[in-house]
Amino acid sequence: MLSSTLKSALLTIALIAAYAQSIVAAECTREGLLSAAYSYLAAQSTGQLSALKLSSTNFTYQQNNKVSDIAKGLLSQSYKIDLNRSTADTVACASYTMWISSTGSKPYVVGTQIRHHDNDTSEITMIDTIAATTGDLFFNAKKTLDYIKAEDWTTIMPASSRPSRDVLKAAGDAYLDMWTDAKAADRIPWGTDCERVEGSMYTKPCGGSLPRGGSKKANGMRRYVIDEEAGSVDVLCQFDSLGNMPDSHEIRIVAGKVKYVHTITVGRVG
Ligand SMILES: *[C@@H]1O[C@H](CO)[C@@H](O)[C@H](O)[C@H]1NC(C)=O
Ligand SMILES: *[C@@H]1O[C@H](CO)[C@@H](O)[C@H](O)[C@H]1NC(C)=O
Ligand SMILES: *[C@@H]1O[C@H](CO)[C@@H](O)[C@H](O)[C@H]1NC(C)=O
Repeated sequence: MLSSTLKSALLTIALIAAYAQSIVAAECTREGLLSAAYSYLAAQSTGQLSALKLSSTNFTYQQNNKVSDIAKGLLSQSYKIDLNRSTADTVACASYTMWISSTGSKPYVVGTQIRHHDNDTSEITMIDTIAATTGDLFFNAKKTLDYIKAEDWTTIMPASSRPSRDVLKAAGDAYLDMWTDAKAADRIPWGTDCERVEGSMYTKPCGGSLPRGGSKKANGMRRYVIDEEAGSVDVLCQFDSLGNMPDSHEIRIVAGKVKYVHTITVGRVG
């Protein structure tokens, strides 16, 4: 029989251990998210999957909205990356990375969300990729590269001027709702000097010629990465309003107004 003193000492040790573990696991950090995103870029530029710390118990690879074998997907090939940019969502413990490869026989413009479970950025539980190439909607990687290279994505300062998580999510949702809701466009704070790059199609100001409803099918399968420091929201989705297309929509809000919109769409309308 254990003495009650020993029992309570053991209980204390167990509680301290549980507490210590909760401190270690509790925080999803920006540094951890970006470091995982850079490991993804390194793996992609070399075609070496071994560079990635994938969870051995809970890992899903999705390419163009279909769960598939990572060893047969985009990461199995190396691509020369001309431009990359990543954002981080410490609440969802997920990151968004876009990269462009404009040279070579198979050019790509790619948007990838990487997810981690239990705030543990040392392991990846999901790589969720939208990859557009030759033949997809408005695809021209060289043009897209030139437009996006010229953009300013510096961290929004001061911190008090950053758009909130709610504002960013609402802007992402309202944007995707424009095809089904005639009033959705009015809920978006368009900037007068805003630029929209859809595939390689450029529109400025981006608040011109907008859809005003008309489709009965809402754009579905929405997955979000929201980064207040960058003032950005990326939504991966299925563009059902125009016909089942795997899609990424990214919006950056600066000084309370939409500054950039990027879309990556796989397939063609109609
Ligand atoms: C993950 O980290 C975020 C940000 O630090 C925190 O808000 C959230 O509660 C944490 N979630 C878990 C499951 O620990
Ligand atoms: C991604 O872009 C950064 C500059 O923003 C660059 O230093 C880095 O080498 C790029 N990564 C890859 C894999 O091309
Ligand atoms: C696996 O990870 C996902 C996040 O990518 C999470 O939603 C899910 O709950 C995890 N499942 C298990 C069994 O841990």
